Amino acid sequence: MSNKIVINEDIHKGMINKNIYGHFSEHLGRCIYEGIWVGEDSPIPNTKGIRNDVLEALKQLHIPVLRWPGGCFADEYHWKDGIGPHENRKRMVNTHWGGVVENNHFGTHEFMLLCELLDCEPYICGNVGSGTVQEMSEWVEYMTFDGESPMANWRKENGRTEPWRLKYFGIGNESWGCGGNMRPEYYADLYRRYQTFARNYGDNRLYKIAGGANIDDYRWTEVLMKQAGPFMDGLSLHYYTIPGDFWEGKGSALDFSDDEWLMTLQKAYFMDELITRHSAIMDQYDPEKRIGLIVDEWGTWFDVEPGTNPGFLYQQNTIRDALVAAVHFHIFHQHCDRVQMANIAQLVNVLQSVILTEGEKMIKTPTYHVFDMFKVHQDATLLDVKADVEQLQHNDTKFPKVSVSASKDKNGKMHISLCNTSLDEPAETTISLRGAGHERTLSGTILAAREKNAHNTFEQPDKVAPAPFTGFTSIGETLKISLPPMSVVMLSE
Ligand code: AHR
Repeated sequence: MSNKIVINEDIHKGMINKNIYGHFSEHLGRCIYEGIWVGEDSPIPNTKGIRNDVLEALKQLHIPVLRWPGGCFADEYHWKDGIGPHENRKRMVNTHWGGVVENNHFGTHEFMLLCELLDCEPYICGNVGSGTVQEMSEWVEYMTFDGESPMANWRKENGRTEPWRLKYFGIGNESWGCGGNMRPEYYADLYRRYQTFARNYGDNRLYKIAGGANIDDYRWTEVLMKQAGPFMDGLSLHYYTIPGDFWEGKGSALDFSDDEWLMTLQKAYFMDELITRHSAIMDQYDPEKRIGLIVDEWGTWFDVEPGTNPGFLYQQNTIRDALVAAVHFHIFHQHCDRVQMANIAQLVNVLQSVILTEGEKMIKTPTYHVFDMFKVHQDATLLDVKADVEQLQHNDTKFPKVSVSASKDKNGKMHISLCNTSLDEPAETTISLRGAGHERTLSGTILAAREKNAHNTFEQPDKVAPAPFTGFTSIGETLKISLPPMSVVMLSE
């Protein structure tokens, strides 16, 4: 059977919020320290302590928004420890992640600088689990108050006269787990209380994000929407693609079977069901879809690379991760009426990273290349797509072999992204482009591999890299494409 796709260019399904191409950086393992922050005295070339090679690579992705400082770390983080002269900053233990010393050299000023250099929105997650209302309130005052106040004066003493613009602010993280092991009823009340004192100063308007459900905890969403819906702008959702068992063994990032390949892709597609069902609950309380579903942690989670600190969550990244990323983006596009932001976990050296570093060396992962290829979809108009495609199966669960999404950007140019999740079969695909009213010339880019665990290393940094794609013909309004196995393709006008 072949795969038949119709793209209705004259039917628009909404805007793909660029923030679904967001990222997440936590004080975890080598994400912040080594991965981003090396300090001004480092032999690694840097801009005020932030490594230049990583900065340059990240700039290319047009990162729209970056979440920080956690994660579980956020509910242990006391922001006042991370400001002022570096030598005076408190040294503490990062109890969640590896029990290592956190010297607090990367704090609010450094994070805001990183966002300025990347030209992205900061998304800061406040501490509900072990912090006070006053502490959270003062953090917002410190960052955004313009005028005479204890916190604003302190910020100025620390070298920053103008307040920062801060939009996205999270009220705690995973309050059902590492953020305090709370029940939703209790957290909903705490949310209402903490957010009251996260003030809008001047014309700075916070977009307040409540800590949402773990995976399929639909009751959490129900209680939060019911008890705290009017007080929030966004509600989060966390779901990781784990081929094995979270506690018993998640599976290897590099050494996996064909069955694990299928299981991973099947579990990636589960994101669609999760968003559909959480959205259905949100629709009951918010039919106008004012509140965004914020998928602020997603991605693959495997066993750590052998020989590395189990608390550092360092894993390699293969063509399988690239397909997981592409499948997620297509799902997020499809739900663009509700999903306003998503943040892959995490930026550098942790979980499904876009960048890995080793000393002064840096490589881009296959996932990086998907972000790069797909950035044309940011803030573009989603086009209607009808797809009649072959199915793959893992155990009793079927999922599409071919996944597709199409958008039109601000300049009226169309972009079609496709992926073939099969390990060993090409996908012969026909696309009818309806409603265009004119001929178009498309060019193609492909990310593909011959081995299922193909990945980039510090010795072979470009083993998995995008290449020009010519495996398609265009006759009138019909495109015929042969998608190689294990491939992600972007066709652009
Ligand atoms: O991303 C790693 C961890 O996963 C985060 O700190 C936490 O929020 C989640 O459980």
